[in-house]
Amino acid sequence: MKKRTKKESNKKTIITLVIVLFTLLILIGISSFFVYKEYKNYYKYTFKLTTKEITVKVNENVNPEDYIKEYKNVKIKYINIVTSTIGEKELTYYVIDRFKIGHYYYIKVNVIDDEAPVITAKDKITIYTGSKIDLNSYIKVTDNYDKDVDIKIDGNVDTSKEGTYKVTYTATDKSGNSLSHIITFTVKKKEVYVAPPVENGTQGVTSKGYKIVNKGGATYIGGILIANKTYNLSSTYGSGLTSATNSAFKEMNKAATEAGYPLRIGSGYRSYKTQNTIYNNYVKRDGKTKADTYSARPGHSEHQTGLAIDICNKDKKIPCINSGFNNTDTAKWLSDNAYKYGFILRYPSGKTNETGYKFESWHYRYVGKDIASKLYNNGNWITLESYLGITSKYSE
Ligand code: DAL
Ligand code: ZN
Repeated sequence: MKKRTKKESNKKTIITLVIVLFTLLILIGISSFFVYKEYKNYYKYTFKLTTKEITVKVNENVNPEDYIKEYKNVKIKYINIVTSTIGEKELTYYVIDRFKIGHYYYIKVNVIDDEAPVITAKDKITIYTGSKIDLNSYIKVTDNYDKDVDIKIDGNVDTSKEGTYKVTYTATDKSGNSLSHIITFTVKKKEVYVAPPVENGTQGVTSKGYKIVNKGGATYIGGILIANKTYNLSSTYGSGLTSATNSAFKEMNKAATEAGYPLRIGSGYRSYKTQNTIYNNYVKRDGKTKADTYSARPGHSEHQTGLAIDICNKDKKIPCINSGFNNTDTAKWLSDNAYKYGFILRYPSGKTNETGYKFESWHYRYVGKDIASKLYNNGNWITLESYLGITSKYSE
């Protein structure tokens, strides 16, 4: 009985041992499975891109991160592309996994130029008959990429004949982008105004009885030198501001400065040649009819007499020689005081039919204190034309 019991107990122990061992084995198996799974997860990397190929414009910024769809367990390095030149490029990703093994991925990048060149040019150009022209000189072409753009010119301008000519400029870059611009050229005869000669001698009297005398290339009426649309100077007349004009201006400027309006001469003496350039530029800009309302033809400008000045305030911020000056305190001071120094406001407001010119709040003419005081007329300026009984009209 005892023996049997021992045998039985041995058997039990063996069974228990086997169970324990088996359980241990299962546990080891299960843990190894999980450890292996973790290990696999830790080293398994993912790297996916959103595309294989992209197209970008020249000089466009490319951000490699924008094309990564997903990644895991990797370090990513990029070798970016240069977009300042067109062509096919490769955006490279260098992906390093946890084994420190590198893998390359690529995106094909097409860098293209799809912008047309820009043509800067006028739409209309007026030229005079007989002038030489270089059609290339009327346009400026720029391109976002190509330095050297092909320019095609269709049409021609015959400067020997008056007429209208259309010229089409087409600029095409190396990528085939192109833009056209049409310029309409008007060829016309240059109207050159030449002042008539001034011959010495007495010309008669004005409607108010003042004697008209031509002397030394200028006309004196009642002893006052007159340059207006009716009476001109010879082309060689004048050499600068007269000393009387200069000293009167200095004296006036002293008083004006004390009153708080320091003055400067914006435009003083102008030769026939200078006036010719100024006038013709205005004619080009505004046409002859309009230019005649505010600019004198050569030989007809008072600035050529050396007695006229366009007055501005020294302060360059204050408008000068334009209607912006009209309502300034400086203009008011001048209109109220200039006569005391021998100056008259030559083209007063509302007197266009007498002077032939629009109001010029800045243009003063030296005539001496006696005449200036008479013409001042308590601020209601009398024009030289009305005072002397003369006109200011061009004969043609
Ligand atoms: N602006 C004046 C009229 C001149 O040109 O002389
Ligand atoms: Zn003037």
